[in-house]
Amino acid sequence: MSRVRKAVFPVAGLGTRFLPATKASPKEMLPVVDKPLIQYAAEEAEEGGVDKLVFITGRNKRSIEDHFDKAYELEVELKEAGKTKLLEIVQNILPPHVSCIYLRQAEALGLGHAVLCARPVVGNEPFAVILADDLIRGAGQGVVAQMAEAHERYGCSILSVEEVPRDETHKYGIVETEPGPNGELRVTSIVEKPAPADAPSNLAVVGRYLLTPRIFDKLEETRAGAGGEIQLTDAIAALLHDEPVVAYPFKGKRYDCGSKLGYLQAQVELGLLHPELGGDFAQYLRQLKDQL
Ligand code: G1P
Repeated sequence: MSRVRKAVFPVAGLGTRFLPATKASPKEMLPVVDKPLIQYAAEEAEEGGVDKLVFITGRNKRSIEDHFDKAYELEVELKEAGKTKLLEIVQNILPPHVSCIYLRQAEALGLGHAVLCARPVVGNEPFAVILADDLIRGAGQGVVAQMAEAHERYGCSILSVEEVPRDETHKYGIVETEPGPNGELRVTSIVEKPAPADAPSNLAVVGRYLLTPRIFDKLEETRAGAGGEIQLTDAIAALLHDEPVVAYPFKGKRYDCGSKLGYLQAQVELGLLHPELGGDFAQYLRQLKDQL
C-alpha cells in the first residue's frame, strides 16, 4: 500500500466569520500565539510523513505563499542584527525535504470542488485533506500520523470524527457507523449538515480526511448539494457504494478556530502550553480571575 505523501489544504474560503480581520488577509493566517493556523496544519502533515503540501488557493491568499517562501530581506536583517534564534525560526518554517504546490481555485464552488482541483497533482495515490481552521493538538502524535496508521491497518479512506452536542449537527458532516470486522467503525452513511432531528448520529467529521484517489471520480460526478456547493461529503457518500470508509475517533483535542469562541480557547490553551510564555500567562490568568 502506498504511503501518504501529499496533503491538500483548501484555503480559498472567504473567512467571513472573522471579518474585518479577514478582509485583506486569509483566515488561515490568523495566528494562535505565535504561529498562523496554516503552519500548525503544515507541521501536522509533515509529522505524518507528508512531503508535498498542495494548497488550493484563491484571491487574497498570497500571504500564505509568502509565509512558506524564503524571506531574503528579513533573513539579512536578522543576520545583521545577530538575532540567530529568530533567524532559525524563519528559515525553518518547513524542513527542506517538504515542497509546496499552489493551485488556484478560480471560483469558490465548495470544499468538494476545491479537493477536485488537486487531482492533477495528487494523481493515483491516497492523500490527506486538512482544513486548517480545525486546529488539533494530537495526543502523542498528530492526527495525520494517526490517520496514516489507520489507513495502513484498514487500507481504505479514513475520516476523523468526534462526538458533538446534538444541537450542533447542522455545522458538520455527520456519519452513521457500524462495527467492522477488526474493531473499526465502518461508515454506513454520511450526510452534510443535517438538522439535529434528521441527524443519523452525533458523530461529526472534523477537518481531517485521508482519501483514496477514487474520490476524484466521485467528485467529478457530484452536483451542488447543501448550501449550493459541491460537497466533499456527497462524494464520500457515493464512494461508500464502491469502497469501505472508516470513521476514526482521533486522539487529541480540537479547537474550532472557524468560530471566535474556539479561536479564543485555542489562544488560551496553547498560550498556557507555550514553553516560554506558559508560566507568565498562567500567572496573569490567576490574577485576572481574582480581579473579576
Ligand atoms: C466542512 C465540511 C463538513 C465538516 C467540517 C469540519 O464544513 O463540509 O462536512 O464536518 O468542514 O470542520 P465547513 O466547516 O467548511 O462548513
